[in-house]
Formats: sequence, structure tokens, C-alpha cells
Amino acid sequence: MRVAVFGAGYVGLVTGACFADLGHEVVVRDVDERKIDALRRGEVPIHEPGLDEVIARAGDRLRFTTEVEEAIADAEVVYIAVGTPSTYSGDADLSAVWTVVDELPRIERRIVLAMKSTVPVGTGRVIRDRLDARGLRNVGYVSNPEFTAEGTAVRDFMQPDRIVVGAFDPLDADAIAELHARIDAPFLRCDVASAEMIKLAANAALVTRISFINEIANVCEATGADVQVVAEGIGLDRRIGPAFLRAGIGFGGSCFPKDSLALKQLAANSGYHFQLLNAVIEVNELQKRRVVGKLERMLGSLRGATIALLGLAFKPGTDDMREAPSLVLAGRLLAEGAHVRAWDPVADGSRYLEGVEIAPTALAALEGADAAVVVTEWPEIAELDWGEVAKRMARPVVVDGRNLLDPAAMRAAGFEYEGIGRAAE
Ligand SMILES: NC(=O)c1ccc[n+]([C@@H]2O[C@H](COP(=O)([O-])OP(=O)(O)OC[C@H]3O[C@@H](n4cnc5c(N)ncnc54)[C@H](O)[C@@H]3O)[C@@H](O)[C@H]2O)c1
Repeated sequence: MRVAVFGAGYVGLVTGACFADLGHEVVVRDVDERKIDALRRGEVPIHEPGLDEVIARAGDRLRFTTEVEEAIADAEVVYIAVGTPSTYSGDADLSAVWTVVDELPRIERRIVLAMKSTVPVGTGRVIRDRLDARGLRNVGYVSNPEFTAEGTAVRDFMQPDRIVVGAFDPLDADAIAELHARIDAPFLRCDVASAEMIKLAANAALVTRISFINEIANVCEATGADVQVVAEGIGLDRRIGPAFLRAGIGFGGSCFPKDSLALKQLAANSGYHFQLLNAVIEVNELQKRRVVGKLERMLGSLRGATIALLGLAFKPGTDDMREAPSLVLAGRLLAEGAHVRAWDPVADGSRYLEGVEIAPTALAALEGADAAVVVTEWPEIAELDWGEVAKRMARPVVVDGRNLLDPAAMRAAGFEYEGIGRAAE
């Protein structure tokens, strides 16, 4: 089929590349000329495992443009995959979505406009009305939310747990089913509002689990239990399952914080106080800050101390630093008067972190440091020669914000080590 994708970001690029890989003819359109120029030169502007290969394999089936007309020219399905960041009020900023909808030219043939961006429930209805008001009744509309996770997005796209399509007209859902014909996954057809809610509710369920296990971790710390063992023990219960039970310094990234805020706001705007989600968000904020308390307990005042942050991306496998816990942590440490050094294998910290020294290697970040904080569970951090690191640091103190390292091995290597929710000895 012929597909246009608006937005060449983490979602749009993966969507376009994977559809091309499935044999479709795809044109990806972005307003960012530099991004499109880079893509035309064969450079992939984001770090996403496997994406370079998929784009290279797609060859002529995947084209890039800044022009609306070129993207739409032959398209049967037009995907919207533009950003929907939070506004100051916590509501989703839909301005980029409206630009795409309003830019759609008058087309005589039937096409389907498919929403991949995460939008508040009710957005599809408003878009449908707006299309109708412009006389664009031949433009079908579906909500086809995206559930891929950065770092595993290509695999997630090709082998999804499910494909959800909310449509006003079953024929439009048929078109999306045809587009995904080569993907073997449950295909859930529903109304547009429910599809929009499935995306928000799925993310809310995931962040609830994260804040839940983080609170269990905090109680473990206070009572002498070990959250890693506890998580294993409860995860073996089939009613609970093991996923998303990893205690740490909280969730971040371009989706979880903004989508949970958007759902909280959506509920509030509709007159409902979503008490549980409010608590989940608050727990997450506090969790990021607990690391500073741990460092203060171990070092005393942080004024003048050199703290090495290991990992900046919001999770391993991506260079995305949007809403990363590292940003909050760096800000708090600088405010306490600490000198902050940071290292990440792929994320470019200099774009986001003012007043932080960006180190070229992990060892350079750790050299002479008074303490290290594991912020992102990159395997490169686990693979460091920690015996050597202990000798290079001014004080061998590690706060392991992701429970990445083995506490016994770290203590044997001479470290004062603290994880999240782990037994003291
Ligand atoms: N990042 C994820 O893992 C993920 C997962 C699921 C859903 N989502 C949702 O998908 C959407 C996109 O997220 P993202 O992370 O890919 O964002 P992104 O910021 O990486 O990419 C958005 C792109 O849209 C482009 N754009 C803006 N206006 C445009 C226009 N009028 N026409 C064409 N392109 C335009 C921007 O230049 C940018 O390149 C968001 O709603 C997000 O919530 C993201």
C-alpha cells in the first residue's frame, strides 16, 4: 500500500521504516529540514537499535520529504506521528496535530487519516468534525495508537502484543488491517474514543506498577527486606507477572510522564479527580529526589563534592533524554553545590545539561569523584572494572539507582554501596 507518515521522530521514523520493510511504499514528511536532509543522505538522526538496517533495506520504498503534497500525492493511508508534548497546564499540546489536519489538501479519492500520536480521548471526534466541516468526508479517520518502547521499537513494531484500531467506519479499520497483514498479532477493533483511552490507560497501568514497586522498595529499605527478592517473589504469581517490577529512581522519558499527566488532566477537565494516578506521579517525583538524600547520608554535605552520573538517557538503548531522571538529579545536585560530571554511551548530555561536565568515558567521569550514581542501566556500566574504579575515585561511594550492580561484589571491591530498596548488608 502507499503510506505517508507525518513526523520523522522516534515513532514516525520507526513506523515509516517498518511499513517499508513490510513491502509498502512510504513517504515520511517532517518540517525539520535538517532531519530530512540527513535522512536523504542515509544518516539516521536517532539512536534506535536495528533502525539503520531497516532503513537501509527499505531502499526506494522509503522516501523523505518536507513537502505535504509530495507525501500525500498517492497515499492511501496518512499517519500522524508528530509530537504531543505537555503544556504548562499538563494538557497535551496538540498544535502540531492540528497543523497536519489543517494542511491536508482537498483530495478526491478516499484516504484514511491514522493517528499514531498519543492524544487525549475525544481528539478523534473533534478531528472528524473538523474534516467534515471542510467537506473532507472522503478522508476516513482512525486511532491506531503506538505501543512501541524506545530501545526495542523495531522489534515491538514488527512483533507487537496487539494492534488497536478505533474507527468511525469499519472500512477504514479494514485498510489498517490490510496494512498490517504481514504482522502476526491480535487485531483489536473498537470505537475511536476507546482506542485513544487504551493508549493512555496502558501507560497509566505501567507507571502505576513502577511507582508501586518503588514504594515497596522504600518500605523494604525501612524494614530490612530486599526489593529484588520481593519483586521476584511476587512476579512469580501468575496473576501479577514479573514485568515492570524493577525498583529504581523512577520513570522518565518522552511518554510516561507526559501521558500520565495528560490522563490526570483529562480526568480533571471532565470533573473527575484521578486520585490513584495523582499518587503515582507524586511518588515518582519523590523517588528521583531520594538519591540526593542517600548521597547526603553517605557523604555529608554535597557542597563542593564531585558526583559522577552514569547514564543520562531515560533508559538504555536510546539517546532520548526527554524528562530523564538524570535531568532532575543533575539539577538537584547542582543546587546542593555539588560539581556534577556525567557520562552516557550515546545520549548527548551537552544539549540538555547546563553546568554539568560531560565526560568522554565512564572512567573519566569517575576519576577523583566522591560518589557515583547509576542513573541508567546501560550494560556498559555493569561491565566496568569496578575494582579499578574503586582505586580511581576519591571516595568509593556508589548509589545504584537502577539496582544494576551486585551489592556483595561491590562491597567486596571496597565500595560503600547503596541500591534502591536493597538490604543494607
Ligand atoms: N517516543 C516513543 O517511544 C513513543 C511511543 C508511543 C507513542 N508516542 C507518541 O508518538 C508521538 C510522537 O512521538 P515522538 O517521540 O516520535 O516525537 P518526536 O518529537 O521524536 O518527533 C516528532 C516529529 O514531528 C515533527 N513534526 C512537527 N510538526 C510536523 C508537521 N506539521 N508535519 C510533519 N512533521 C512534523 C517534528 O519535527 C519531529 O521530528 C507523540 O504523541 C508520542 O506521545 C511516542
